[in-house]
Amino acid sequence: MTTELAPAPAPLAAPVPRPRIFSGIQPSGVVHLGNDLGAVRNYVRLQYEYEAIYSIVDYHALTSTHDPAALRTQTREMAASLLALGLDPDRCTLFVQSHRPEVTELAWLLTTVTPVSWLERTPTYKEKKEHQQDDVNHGLLAYPVLQAADIVIYKASLVPVGKDQAAHLELSREIVRAFNARYGQTFPEPKAVYTEAPTVLGTDGVRKMSKSVGNTIDVLGPPELIKKQIMSMVTDTQRVLRTDPGRPEVCNVCQLQRAFGDDYESLWDGERTARTGCVDMKRILAERITERYAEARDRYANLMAHPDRIDEILAVGAERIRPIAEATMIEVREKMGLR
Ligand code: TRP
Repeated sequence: MTTELAPAPAPLAAPVPRPRIFSGIQPSGVVHLGNDLGAVRNYVRLQYEYEAIYSIVDYHALTSTHDPAALRTQTREMAASLLALGLDPDRCTLFVQSHRPEVTELAWLLTTVTPVSWLERTPTYKEKKEHQQDDVNHGLLAYPVLQAADIVIYKASLVPVGKDQAAHLELSREIVRAFNARYGQTFPEPKAVYTEAPTVLGTDGVRKMSKSVGNTIDVLGPPELIKKQIMSMVTDTQRVLRTDPGRPEVCNVCQLQRAFGDDYESLWDGERTARTGCVDMKRILAERITERYAEARDRYANLMAHPDRIDEILAVGAERIRPIAEATMIEVREKMGLR
């Protein structure tokens, strides 16, 4: 009698590889509300769907800041902020750009396929040339080439960025095309995935929230500071009297309420009918923001009290992606006739 063998179990399905994304963030120190709503939240969300690599771009920062101590501190503050706000080093790779120095070699190689004219007409270069007239260094011009190298050394195909990076991303694609045309298909053309978040205006209600302008809401700072910053916000400048109807569409405080509770329509209604005033709106916003970021604030303080932990996470990140960077460089050197 033959015994029938139980059918062999089906082999486990190979894990579906997740598309690789890459993004870079400036080491601008502690994250503020504009950074979080504009970029960081998105990074956190994407780490669950993609193989995400996030770089704190200290090489790029050197094109505009020349204070070594400040750069070191702000790099660590940025790392602690990102971790506090939810980047999970087990789910994504967080590292500091200069800890994987292969990227500078690739940037050099890419400069040789990049016409200077492309770089000279980059909007950010033109702006910075005006802005820092006494320091129009070569790095400023080559900035987008390094950015392209950042992305393609890991052969990332998707790049989550804000709309302000559109020109840089287009240039990255052009550089990739130029390289592939000269040396054969090597890099995928990186595609921008724009964050839907509208530009977050600063407390002045006019300019984009940014540390250099000094119009931030420092969500990871002490609650008293958050409150003070929010109470100082410019609202609807045409609303002079408390009894004037408010215009939530143009009021920056009202706009921010959208991100902090789904009852904003009814809050707006109070404004339109002058049942509530700007001060009421600011109080609500301050409470909600303080509350929303309470845990992140604790985590941030905790990490900053243990800088060795931050450094360890960053070191592990840089080490994890070393094989990818090295493999790309072997391939590129070979293709270009360097070995
Ligand atoms: N230029 C980007 C910024 O200022 C930062 C950056 C550097 C970047 N390298 C990158 C963004 C690669 C996306 C991909 O915000």
